[in-house]
Amino acid sequence: MTGNTFGRVFRITTCGESYSGGFRKKQGMPEGLHGGLIAIVDGVPPGIKITAQMIQEELDKRKPGLSKLTTPRSEADMVFIFSGVMEDDLTTGAPVGLYIPNTDIEEVHIEQHRSNKDFIRPGQAAYTYYKKYGQFADWAGAGRASGRETAARVAGGAVAKAVLDTMGIDVIGYVVESHGIKAGHITYEMAKANYRKNEINCPDLEKAEEMIEDLLKVKASGDSCGGIIEVIAKGVPAGLGEPVFDKLSATIAHGLMSIGGVKGIEFGEGFELARKKGSESNDTPYFDKETGRIRFRTNRAGGVLGGISTGEEIRVRVAVKPTPTIMLEQETVNVSTLQNVTHRFTSRSDPSLCPRIYPVCEAMVRIAVLDAIYIANGYRSVVRNIDPRWEEL
Ligand SMILES: Cc1cc2nc3c(=O)[nH]c(=O)nc-3n(C[C@H](O)[C@H](O)[C@H](O)COP(=O)(O)O)c2cc1C
Repeated sequence: MTGNTFGRVFRITTCGESYSGGFRKKQGMPEGLHGGLIAIVDGVPPGIKITAQMIQEELDKRKPGLSKLTTPRSEADMVFIFSGVMEDDLTTGAPVGLYIPNTDIEEVHIEQHRSNKDFIRPGQAAYTYYKKYGQFADWAGAGRASGRETAARVAGGAVAKAVLDTMGIDVIGYVVESHGIKAGHITYEMAKANYRKNEINCPDLEKAEEMIEDLLKVKASGDSCGGIIEVIAKGVPAGLGEPVFDKLSATIAHGLMSIGGVKGIEFGEGFELARKKGSESNDTPYFDKETGRIRFRTNRAGGVLGGISTGEEIRVRVAVKPTPTIMLEQETVNVSTLQNVTHRFTSRSDPSLCPRIYPVCEAMVRIAVLDAIYIANGYRSVVRNIDPRWEEL
């Protein structure tokens, strides 16, 4: 398997699977070291305060088993820092290593997956993993294709957050649609004020009630549903992103589209722009006397033009598909007998990915933005003859 690193200068590398460690429990290893998830964060500047508590706060947003809307799997998701930070909690500049042990990996659950392993789980990565890794594919809880993999990204993203905090850049994610129930327009201020005020983390508090009620009905029927997550990055300076292959929008999209279950993405008004005229979609610039900068009357572009940040807030939305694992009979294939069968999968699963995926989206946007800052500043350091007037605008 390749491609387990994201970012070019500020980078995270992850490893670990859903049930890794379950098989090694009896091998005399110290408690908690059988298996789990690891994030190695490279490019962290020295002198940044990082504590396990800070990372834990991010991980707790994604932690399973905390609400009636999420999977009953009860992972502690406790993070341990094992490198890159000194006793004063300040980074040394060395890679920051983070470890999250798998704890809820009981034999009974591994057995559930073992008994289902010959049946291709519809909507999951089972078929494509078998095509790529054959008989060696990890069948326990979807292996690397499990949502559990994203705990390591959230831990790495928490380190990016600590660096971005020192620059006044804030990234916030929340649910704007669940199973067709739409929230009204959410401003940054509204998102901040109502952040995580309900189990689905939708800042439109009335719509959130509707969403939760609906989600419980979907769950009771043994089915699942999808939704839309919106992320705002506030305080991002103008000038980030490379204009061709490494557009800021492209690298953010790369990060977000790499999350399991994400099926679509749009910046600003996104797909809606396809239905508009130029006069209805252009963001008109104006000179803002207060800041001495050029700003835009509207932000339909979502904060990126020509792949480069405009200095307005970056606003991006992702479409999240319904959780593939459902508690209903479905058609599938038994790969050992090659018979077409109907099968009902028994395993612990989320009725909707939305209540747990937004912190993962926040993490990926943070990493992409911070990485773009390193690249933009590196490039700027060799550009010597631009009239500073342009930089000030
Ligand atoms: C936080 C999170 C939790 C997830 N939980 C589940 C789950 O409980 N059951 C499941 O079938 N898929 C779950 N997924 C989705 C699968 O990882 C994903 O659908 C699968 O890997 C197939 O990839 P694709 O949907 O991107 O094609 C979760 C994803 C995330 C990000």
